[in-house]
Amino acid sequence: MTKKILVTGGTGYIGSHTVVELQQGGYEVLVLDNLSNSLEKIVDQVGRITGRRPLFERIDLCDAPALQRFFQQHSDIQGVIHFAALKAVGESVTQPLRYYRNNLLSLLNLIDCMQALPLSPVMVFSSSCTVYGQPDRLPVNELAPVKEALSPYGNTKQVSEEIIRDAIQAGSLKAISLRYFNPIGAHESGLIGELPQGKPNNLVPYITQTAIGKRDKLRVFGNDYDTPDGTCIRDYIHVTDLSKAHVVALDRLLSGKGDGAYEVFNLGTGRGHSVLEVIRSFEKTSGMSLPVEMAPRRPGDSEKVWADTTWANLKLGWKAEKKLDEMMASAWRWEKNLASGILEEPPAS
Ligand code: NAD
Ligand code: WQD
Repeated sequence: MTKKILVTGGTGYIGSHTVVELQQGGYEVLVLDNLSNSLEKIVDQVGRITGRRPLFERIDLCDAPALQRFFQQHSDIQGVIHFAALKAVGESVTQPLRYYRNNLLSLLNLIDCMQALPLSPVMVFSSSCTVYGQPDRLPVNELAPVKEALSPYGNTKQVSEEIIRDAIQAGSLKAISLRYFNPIGAHESGLIGELPQGKPNNLVPYITQTAIGKRDKLRVFGNDYDTPDGTCIRDYIHVTDLSKAHVVALDRLLSGKGDGAYEVFNLGTGRGHSVLEVIRSFEKTSGMSLPVEMAPRRPGDSEKVWADTTWANLKLGWKAEKKLDEMMASAWRWEKNLASGILEEPPAS
């Protein structure tokens, strides 16, 4: 029988790509989102890719009664992938309580609802490499210490991991936390991708918006770091590779093949790229030259971070495949599709 999976935050960037992979993997997917950072239209876009529009309900996970009603109607949910969260690091510094309330209350409500079901469903949780801060050793593996959080957003991820771990110790929940490095790029169809609201904080949407003419120039935050070209190094991973790892993690939980009730995995490529390498890759794949300016360091940035992916590769049997050029080409295709009004077209009949 087809297994029913709930995806919270499923109209968002990573959520929508994961819904596609789940549907293509044979799962029946239910999507919940409050649309605070996404559009309902994305559900149509997913349907255009897979041929099946997933069931969608606009629910705020902080609204416990609404969430309980939803779970009562779908008491056969077997797995939950929990993406729903606020994610802007800078905004979390100015609005910390909003971040704690949204990201933690939604998780608590969700776990309550899951535990109330007769067959406790399994959970895959969106965590972040931000929990490592600037690691003492590179590449960073899952045993590296969790460092004091650099932002309220980062702290919500640390506390969420602790809540999940403690709930598991006290009950029957099973979960996997996935610590993402830097997800970028868009689906190969060009039908879904990242939709930053306002001025992007992240490097790749800033690059593509500069190339399309929405931004004057790209500023490189710091070129005096202790790295080969002086700019920061990150482990950029294609969002489709990342999404596929969620399906594998879910399969692992549902088949009971995990090592214990709670596991944590890094999701990255295992390779670091500097800011200048990312810019060069974009220029090569797009054939454009970007207006670039060197700027002071951005407060709170780590100098260099990339993942040790050994555990994810061995235990999940998953490996990121796409290279930086492909990531940049897909991000650029998506930006051009957005500019030509792809989200304004009526859905395919
Ligand atoms: P996103 O903003 O595109 O998606 C999150 C979705 O959750 C949005 O559609 C938003 O409307 C929804 N949402 C937020 N609060 C909600 C609530 N209370 N109830 C219902 N829906 C709610 O972000 P994303 O980039 O797809 O990130 C998904 C997850 O991955 C988040 O938990 C984020 O913290 C985590 N993460 C993201 C990155 C990254 O760089 N994108 C890196 C590491 C971890
Ligand atoms: C990458 C590099 C910047 C913009 C953030 C969150 C992290 C995680 C992923 C959620 C850095 C440089 C950027 C620009 C630049 N999210 N840069 N000019 O900071 O590694 O991670 O997203 O969990 O928690 O902090 O990603 O894309 O913002 O920056 O030079 O206009 O690009 O300084 O070195 P970051 P990013």
